[in-house]
Amino acid sequence: MTTLTVDIRKAEPRDAEAIADVHHEAWRGAYAGIIPHRALNAMISRRGRDWWAHAIERASSVLVIEVGGQVAGYATLGRNRARELRQQGEIYELYLRPECQGIGLGSRLFAAARDKLDAHGLKGLVVWALEENANALSFYAGAGGRDVAEGVEVFDQKALRKIAFVWD
Ligand SMILES: CC(C)(COP(=O)(O)OP(=O)(O)OC[C@H]1O[C@@H](n2cnc3c(N)ncnc32)[C@H](O)[C@@H]1OP(=O)(O)O)[C@@H](O)C(=O)NCCC(=O)NCCS
Repeated sequence: MTTLTVDIRKAEPRDAEAIADVHHEAWRGAYAGIIPHRALNAMISRRGRDWWAHAIERASSVLVIEVGGQVAGYATLGRNRARELRQQGEIYELYLRPECQGIGLGSRLFAAARDKLDAHGLKGLVVWALEENANALSFYAGAGGRDVAEGVEVFDQKALRKIAFVWD
């Protein structure tokens, strides 16, 4: 049996291509059939290697989880953007390659992202997930999140409900 090392660290510019690839695979896997095809394609193609290289170089916080030296997923985090919620931190995105899902990596990345927000002095945390993304809803509920608010996001004229989970 091979033992693979799991490492979670801050993303570096050299990770941009791998993160763009994870983004592409994970978004297609999670949202095909939910977000209209054209809007999903546009969102994926906008976030190529250069977009990620720029995001990593700007001050925004991007974490990667590596398994056996390969990037298996990423998380982005920072200040909570929803004024009506009092939690200070937010995980904007948390995505794993489809073949890396369901084996505990998401839980580890979530815990690391939460620690990072704490280390930045941000108290409490918010995560938004589309209501139709059943895996994400059970993941965040299983991680102890309370669903406290809902909103609507419009993709190519299709309105989708989103749910906010919070941790104090
Ligand atoms: C959602 C996601 C981040 C979860 O990470 P993961 O590594 O797959 O989850 P874990 O293996 O750590 O599982 C933790 C818990 O989540 C839940 N869960 C994870 N995958 C699930 C699935 N496919 N179906 C139902 N529940 C699931 C389970 O409750 C699991 O608890 P258990 O350990 O008691 O079984 C990951 O599956 C993913 O990237 N999905 C696609 C993208 C996405 O939806 N991201 C979130 C956008 S807001």
